[in-house]
Amino acid sequence: MKRHLTPLDNLVVNVDQALRTVFGKPQVTERPHPDADLKQSELSKEEARHVAGLMRINHAGEVCAQALYQGQALTAKLPNVREKMERAAQEENDHLAWCESRLKELGDNTSHLNPFWYAGSFAIGALAGLAGDKWSLGFVVETERQVVKHLDDHLQQLPPQDEKSRAVLEQMKEDEGRHATLALQAGGAELPTPVKKLMQTMSKIMTRTTYHI
Ligand SMILES: [Fe+2]
Ligand SMILES: [Fe+2]
Repeated sequence: MKRHLTPLDNLVVNVDQALRTVFGKPQVTERPHPDADLKQSELSKEEARHVAGLMRINHAGEVCAQALYQGQALTAKLPNVREKMERAAQEENDHLAWCESRLKELGDNTSHLNPFWYAGSFAIGALAGLAGDKWSLGFVVETERQVVKHLDDHLQQLPPQDEKSRAVLEQMKEDEGRHATLALQAGGAELPTPVKKLMQTMSKIMTRTTYHI
């Protein structure tokens, strides 16, 4: 049986996870980087800058995903799926690590706005958790679906020779699709259209700024 955590324990755990996600080495799974065996792609300066902009968006998206899962874990009950959700959150950390090393290879940096995205997404995740499990799971379903669409768009924008970035994004897309199915099967409800639209608007603001900074 798990030890009961006091509110102070919870706070310490959450601050630790936030700092690790934004500044440190988050806890990853045993999986290798999808692009580990591929050779460096030959990219022009402009291509490298564009791919780095895309990877910075994906990295920031993973910071948000991590914060959403952590915020939700704080308030949601999720008695039957907690373990699976924790595994999903750990897979988001893989994504975080993969995007970060790809950004480094491209000679670029992660977004300076990440602490801000983390804080906002954590609050949204906690609120979704308070709304009840079917809504918070529905929120995961919709988030993951939107991420899959957005990864598809990025996959199309990659220079054809950039096999490394492609391998990373394709594995991420597969994982996110699985996360959506998991949350749906766990009882996620279909969100009202205005909420979906609001989520799309927020992700647009995030992607447009993060591409540059
Ligand atoms: Fe992810
Ligand atoms: Fe995911």
